[in-house]
Amino acid sequence: MKILIIYYTQSGNTQAIAKSIARGAASTGAEVKMMRLKNVTYDMLGEYDLIGFGSPTWKADTPNMHAFIDKMPKQNGTHCFAFNTHGTLPHLYFPIVIPNLKNHGLVPIGYKDWYGDVNMPGMPKPYYTGGHPDEQDFREAEEFGREMAENSPRIHAGETDLIYPDPEMNDKVFEQAMICSNMLLCPTNPQGAFIRDPEKCKYPKCHVCMDNCMMQYIDLSKDPQVFGNRGDRCDDCHECSYCFMLCPFGAIYTEDPKQFERDKGIRHLNFEVMLDRDEAEGKFRRLVPVEEVGFDTPYVYWHPQRPYMKPPKEDDEFT
Ligand SMILES: Cc1cc2nc3c(=O)[nH]c(=O)nc-3n(C[C@H](O)[C@H](O)[C@H](O)COP(=O)(O)O)c2cc1C
Ligand code: SF4
Ligand code: SF4
Repeated sequence: MKILIIYYTQSGNTQAIAKSIARGAASTGAEVKMMRLKNVTYDMLGEYDLIGFGSPTWKADTPNMHAFIDKMPKQNGTHCFAFNTHGTLPHLYFPIVIPNLKNHGLVPIGYKDWYGDVNMPGMPKPYYTGGHPDEQDFREAEEFGREMAENSPRIHAGETDLIYPDPEMNDKVFEQAMICSNMLLCPTNPQGAFIRDPEKCKYPKCHVCMDNCMMQYIDLSKDPQVFGNRGDRCDDCHECSYCFMLCPFGAIYTEDPKQFERDKGIRHLNFEVMLDRDEAEGKFRRLVPVEEVGFDTPYVYWHPQRPYMKPPKEDDEFT
């Protein structure tokens, strides 16, 4: 049996979970390959019996994963599974992603999510979900990988009750849909536009932003150089700030630095309400006590130097 695990990651949480899933799946004797989304072509999909799709939660799947699934040619009933890591708002992912996978001719046989630490410029540090994914999460991910690899042949053999039921459309989903729609109706990046200062930029010696923009909005080899969805800035509404976080030379700045201060000291009440409820229901395992959440230290104040973040290593070995 051949299994492909396709994933996207920015800060490494989803990659780490994908590795554990791969390890679990491989323990059944299956041949497992892990690949970054950007390296996957549609032609490859036909070679596999089971395909995993994983990304961080950004409302639902990230825009690059969403586009990949959206443009995927119709598949012929191949089994698949979905997974993600997320912060405080995890409930919209599967109700959106599972129907999209089905609409493209795949048969989703399972799905699972894990909490992950959050690294965004204006978000508190430490964050509510800090410490995740931890060893327990990795064990659960291995178990999930094993389950998917074992279930797929059994489902083919007729045990169709092993297929997970469709994600529930409950109050939490609608509540989170309201919060997310409100954010997405903002026509620009709520953190303000990210702008590149050509004076500070070290291209071509450095090209880390260009190599890592999931939307391929950056091409500094062009004349004139292209940066962001507007050509000279990025105000994409998905709240991405990756290039700003990665630039080692502080050459990318936000038009309104006060944005990151805006939430200083403010407790994100809707996040907390959701999380408290998920904790009470046993979904969330709190590792950072609420009194230790860094309401006064947004990420960019807490982190001492540039770059604010480094991209995780391109390493898809999991044994
Ligand atoms: C731009 C952006 C948007 C995010 N949106 C959400 C969200 O809607 N809901 C949520 O629970 N977490 C959200 N997060 C948190 C990530 O899902 C979480 O940190 C995840 O574990 C990151 O995975 P990675 O390390 O693989 O990139 C967001 C993070 C970023 C950077
Ligand atoms: S990461 Fe910064 S220095 Fe490097 S190419 Fe991008 S803007 Fe220039
Ligand atoms: S913020 Fe930067 S990395 Fe993110 S989509 Fe825009 S240009 Fe790309």
